[in-house]
Amino acid sequence: MSELSVVILAAGQGTRMRSELPKVLHTVAGKPMLQHVIEAAKALTANAIHVVYGHGGETVRSRLADQAVHWVEQTEQLGTGHAVNQAMPDIPGHHTVMVLYGDVPLITGATLQRLAMAAQDGLGLLTTRLPEPTGYGRIVRDGAGKVQAIVEEKDATEEQRSIQEVNTGMLAVRADALRRWLGALDNDNAQGEYYLTDIIARAASEGVTVNTVNPGEVAEVMGVNNRVQLAELERDFQRRQNEELMMSGVTLLDPQRFDLRGALTAGRDVVIDVNVVMEGKVVLGDGVFVGPNCYLHDVSIGAGTRISSHSVLERADIGTECHIGPFARIRPDTRLSDRVHIGNFVEVKKSLVETGSKINHLSYVGDTTVGKSVNIGAGVITCNYDGANKHRTIIGDNAFIGSDTQLVAPVEVGSGATIGAGSTITHDTPAGELTLSRTRQKTVQGWHRPVKKIDEG
Ligand code: UD1
Ligand code: CA
Repeated sequence: MSELSVVILAAGQGTRMRSELPKVLHTVAGKPMLQHVIEAAKALTANAIHVVYGHGGETVRSRLADQAVHWVEQTEQLGTGHAVNQAMPDIPGHHTVMVLYGDVPLITGATLQRLAMAAQDGLGLLTTRLPEPTGYGRIVRDGAGKVQAIVEEKDATEEQRSIQEVNTGMLAVRADALRRWLGALDNDNAQGEYYLTDIIARAASEGVTVNTVNPGEVAEVMGVNNRVQLAELERDFQRRQNEELMMSGVTLLDPQRFDLRGALTAGRDVVIDVNVVMEGKVVLGDGVFVGPNCYLHDVSIGAGTRISSHSVLERADIGTECHIGPFARIRPDTRLSDRVHIGNFVEVKKSLVETGSKINHLSYVGDTTVGKSVNIGAGVITCNYDGANKHRTIIGDNAFIGSDTQLVAPVEVGSGATIGAGSTITHDTPAGELTLSRTRQKTVQGWHRPVKKIDEG
């Protein structure tokens, strides 16, 4: 196949989004629409990707600074033909140029591959049939079915408007021919714009064959002009992604109530209950169960672990056969080894909890190393912050921390140590011994509860 330069048009303002954010930065599955298109182009192994930007240009460029693309500014939006022409000076004549759109995010590499093939012996044009074609450019064919022209809705005759085959906007053709046709465009039409679509009639009149290609699914060619359309594409993307997940062996109890904004790698027999959202990079081992209403962001979970309902896990690494939740919060830089139990209303941050340890109720464990087979009672708090700096707590293997204990860091509890309930621990505690800090219980004989005074006023 010949060498390929992709031109992505992304200069439009997107007024109908009613947003401060440039349209192409609005996201589908957590990723800017423009990035979806760039990735589809990359899947084609294009030699170069040119992004024509205009509105909110600096924001677009800085948000996608890590993408290997050429940025081309279109200072005034004079039409799609004018936009493509901005990128042409950098494109060698023998390249095939493929035109894509930053606000048509669901286009797939497979469809673009067929479009590139269609440009091998002519001009490749991506079209589709719509029962309701209003607003789109119509594909005009002659009696023999050969494409003659594209006519825009606003310039179309009554008869042309009844054509259901529409222009998706995406096309591919040799750069030298395209350069010549673009150079000859005028803006003598209903919108006073330089239409890219006018090159079709020129190609046809020069005897260049226009080969049409259809997308695998209509959603691939759907553009986003407002937030209603954005939400429709989001649903479509999630549906397709969830179908793939289920086909690969993941059970989704309701595929309409699981959203993945990122990448999920799942082992065998993973079960995901309803209203779960996952973001970033998530890895789930064999047999992992994720209960209802959980949020997972950049986490890895070992085989056989159960995450019960309403748990939030971010940037954490969880071992096998653990039980987390319900109502647990695992914060960044946490590592739980195998068979760890984290129960309800427990928050763990930047901590290592080793094999077999349990923190089952109402605790805060931060900046802490918890050894093996430790039992942390209800309501235990590591006081890791002195108002200025964070300090670490170290708890040795087999320690037992009684309920409602405060561990004032920096502090170390020796292995096998027992801390009596209700203690405030400010000094290191010896291994194997009972340590507690409480006043002795006493009983005040003859004490009476206060009695409510009668209001005489
Ligand atoms: C265009 C096509 C139409 C097709 C439709 C599919 C033309 C003349 N018409 O119409 O046949 O059915 O798309 O959606 O091409 N853009 C720029 N710079 C410009 C103008 C546009 O970057 O100067 C970008 C816009 O941001 C947008 C895209 O190009 O992403 C399409 O432009 P738009 O004006 O929306 O074209 P349509 O009227 O939808
Ligand atoms: Ca449009």
